[in-house]
Amino acid sequence: MDAENTTPLLVASSNAAIGFEEGMSLLRDGAPALDAVVAVVRRVEDNPEDHTVGYGGLPNLRGEVELDAMVMDGRTLKAGAVAALKGFRNPVLVARRVMEVLPHVLLAGEGAATFAREMGFSESELLTEEARTIWKQRLEASLAGSDEVPPEIASYYRHMARFVREMTQDPEAAASEHETDAMDTVVVLARDRAGNLAVATSTSGWAWKYPGRVGDSPIPGAGGYADNRYGAAACTGRGEMAMRAATARSVVLYMKMGLPLWNAAREATLDLYALEDEFANVLTIYATDAHGNHVGFSNREGRTYIFQTGDMEAPDERPCAFVRPDGSTEVRPASGRT
Ligand code: GLY
Repeated sequence: MDAENTTPLLVASSNAAIGFEEGMSLLRDGAPALDAVVAVVRRVEDNPEDHTVGYGGLPNLRGEVELDAMVMDGRTLKAGAVAALKGFRNPVLVARRVMEVLPHVLLAGEGAATFAREMGFSESELLTEEARTIWKQRLEASLAGSDEVPPEIASYYRHMARFVREMTQDPEAAASEHETDAMDTVVVLARDRAGNLAVATSTSGWAWKYPGRVGDSPIPGAGGYADNRYGAAACTGRGEMAMRAATARSVVLYMKMGLPLWNAAREATLDLYALEDEFANVLTIYATDAHGNHVGFSNREGRTYIFQTGDMEAPDERPCAFVRPDGSTEVRPASGRT
């Protein structure tokens, strides 16, 4: 296939649908994959109804919205990221500037905010009234103090302990009960007309997280990775798992070592079961190879992803393959959760 005439492709977590029209329009016009993934993620960051990303994202334990984001360009393997950024609505744009301007990959906290200011980004309040209300209701039951440990730590662990207990006893009910204990993310992979790959991620992280907690989303190799030669991958779900297993890089590395996309993503999902962890939770992988094939894989049933090629009018939703600890894999009709 002529490299300049590759069919454009977007692959993403379902919450990215809101930005697909703009992203696909850019790709059809010949824009680089990097421009498309940033444009899509930016739309999601601006959406106050998405409580896992950007403006309207759920806050940390103290009620502060802290954002993580990353971009990676498969042409150069350059990456830029920000972590625990407060007061800026579009961390993906700041992440891109980190990649373009600095000899660094990741800025965190106050340094990231200073850089965002220097780059001319405007500061804004990120906590919407709706997110503030959810935060208050959710933590009310566990906000009582303790003499033994600082109250914030005590309440955090009481809350998390309850979450884990419920997940262990009845995962389906707990997942529904803890719908707002989000640790979701927006992830977008793109392949442009020249066959270049890029990835962008953005998240407000694990709702009610300990202040300063950083997940996988701004960590190249964990929450996202793109390499034109082999493929690209990104993750949603509990970032600590993707960080420990280097999940996004693993998918791409397994492809480099000769596995087809399906097997590479399945292998990276299986790796998650080796992680001993009382907080073990969902992790979903979104991946493409260098030829434009795409898959979604998860260690939980019923997860989905969306994709659109240049000749499709709108995104389509596909079920992710579910991998059990014994390696058996199945694809079931989608239930709508990413
Ligand atoms: N995957 C998002 C997070 O763990 O922060």
